[in-house]
Amino acid sequence: MSDLRAELSALRGTARDRLNSAETPDAVDSLRHELLGRSGQLTGLLKGLASVAPEERPALGQLANEVRTEVEAAIGQRMTSLREADLETRLASEAIDMSGPGRPVAIGHLHPVQTLMRDVREIFHAFGFEVFEGPEIETEEYNFELLNIPPDHPARDLWDTLFVAEPGSVEAGDPKPATDGTILRTHTSPVQIRAMHALDAPIRVLMPGRCFRYEAVDASHAFEFFQVEGLVVDRDTSLADLKGLLEEIARALYGRDVRTRFRPGYYPFTEPSVAFDVGCLVCGGSGCPACKRSGWMTILGAGMVHPTVLRNGGYDPAEYQGYAFGMGPDRMTMLRHGIGDIRLFFSADARFVSQFAEGR
Ligand code: PHE
Repeated sequence: MSDLRAELSALRGTARDRLNSAETPDAVDSLRHELLGRSGQLTGLLKGLASVAPEERPALGQLANEVRTEVEAAIGQRMTSLREADLETRLASEAIDMSGPGRPVAIGHLHPVQTLMRDVREIFHAFGFEVFEGPEIETEEYNFELLNIPPDHPARDLWDTLFVAEPGSVEAGDPKPATDGTILRTHTSPVQIRAMHALDAPIRVLMPGRCFRYEAVDASHAFEFFQVEGLVVDRDTSLADLKGLLEEIARALYGRDVRTRFRPGYYPFTEPSVAFDVGCLVCGGSGCPACKRSGWMTILGAGMVHPTVLRNGGYDPAEYQGYAFGMGPDRMTMLRHGIGDIRLFFSADARFVSQFAEGR
């Protein structure tokens, strides 16, 4: 028996053992190179074929082919079983226990200011008010002029206005207010005019929305905040109706025992104008930092709609009267929860907001 035959048998004999000890597809692959590759063992042995006796060559050539086929098959099997084992471990590690309890899903909830606004809406709904909305980007005409605040009126100083820039003027390094008079509304009162234009009397509307002012931001001032405006236009309405309504609203919001008071106020679009206070909810009226030691907190401004404003809305003041009020829901929410800093509302801090999960 030639050496070549012995060596081919040895290769055949050890290949399976070596394959079985290859633990990864990569190890099997390098074994493939070592045994069957271009410069591998089998190729090396076949070079010796040239030096064997011619009559032995066919038989040895056939044996070499058998060995190659066998080793290739063994490599294929080993590869498959390694891959299957790998898949099994992966499946086992990714398995989900379907009988286990579900993981809790974090459910969001309303922002506390939105919760308060919903409560306000619900209370007013019971008094027959419907919701009417106007744009956040307004015109000076609606925000001021039609509300009886002419361009040179000193009362404009009460509303520090954010102007929309004239297109191109910012890029040119010389920002100017838009010549078409667009501004960010400083209050929801312009929606009074829009409601009067859109609706027929009797009108009972609630007008919630975001407002903007050029304010230096501190614990009690934000440049962005909410208001809820109310408007009633009808024949024979009076300041007594307004007073009665607001007292009921205060009781519904803060409880039957809440103390209330009206003070004279000034707004160009109402006459007479009032400020409406509730007894401080933090100290109960004895005086504390939250109420600036007065025992009272102002929650809204109100009054009888000015005849000029009624006229601007398309109503004849000889025939119709109206009353209007503007609430500050941010402020009211601070009172409700004893929150000392308005900036927390806009801080996007989940630790703050998640304390108010009741608004779900
Ligand atoms: N618009 C007023 C403000 O922003 C509030 C107000 C509304 C007063 C309606 C009277 C009537 O301060």
